[in-house]
Amino acid sequence: MKVSDAVASRMSVRAFLDTPVDGALLRRIVAEAARAASGGNLQPWVVHVLAGDPLRDFLSRMKLRLAEAGPGETEFPIYPPSLKEPYRSRRFEIGKQMYDCMGIAYEDKSARLAWLANNYAFFGAPVGMFCYVDRDMGAAQWSDLGMYLATLALLLREAGLDCCFQEAWARYHPEVDAAVAPAPGHMLFCGVAIGHRDPDAPVNGLQSTRAPLDEFATFRGI
Ligand SMILES: Cc1cc2nc3c(=O)[nH]c(=O)nc-3n(C[C@H](O)[C@H](O)[C@H](O)COP(=O)(O)O)c2cc1C
Repeated sequence: MKVSDAVASRMSVRAFLDTPVDGALLRRIVAEAARAASGGNLQPWVVHVLAGDPLRDFLSRMKLRLAEAGPGETEFPIYPPSLKEPYRSRRFEIGKQMYDCMGIAYEDKSARLAWLANNYAFFGAPVGMFCYVDRDMGAAQWSDLGMYLATLALLLREAGLDCCFQEAWARYHPEVDAAVAPAPGHMLFCGVAIGHRDPDAPVNGLQSTRAPLDEFATFRGI
């Protein structure tokens, strides 16, 4: 697969087949993604992967926990407290498109919340990954996590696999910590659902849009 095909075909997949993921293949991809650049070559990404029984046990504990816990709290603001334009409209738009795909009316808050709970089942994916970072790291190193995750997503595509990044998991960091036992001082950034996309699931028909080039880039001399 060409890199450009991997880029074009990557999307956030939110419904997976239960087809298992080959363990050796996944280890190779997780290792290769670490070819991503990082400032000072700090390689600040730390990942924990769950599949099979450890994943099943964790998700069943999560299910019980979700029934009793509130919406959970992140240790960091996922979005700025008051999202200004154009970000606010972009966020609203993708949410609306997603619920439209599934025939859920935006006004139907309880249906939306019920759908969002799928995050905490990794959308049915056979593999769940958690990405951590050392608390001493700052904004620049957090951007390095993005480099790692973007590279991972493209390598997954090359292997015929898909993923969805999930900041939603940051709301339940105590539960995730209990499952993966991170090194002291490490904090959860996000989860990643990994597996084979369900081509028939309406939600996977969602095609996110992007702002036109001249909205985010300027060129001089070229
Ligand atoms: C760091 C990060 C965290 C995300 N967290 C979630 C999440 O918790 N749940 C979810 O459904 N999508 C999540 N997404 C997916 C975004 O909504 C998605 O990337 C965006 O809408 C663009 O769509 P695309 O990935 O299909 O191109 C996340 C994406 C990133 C990069």
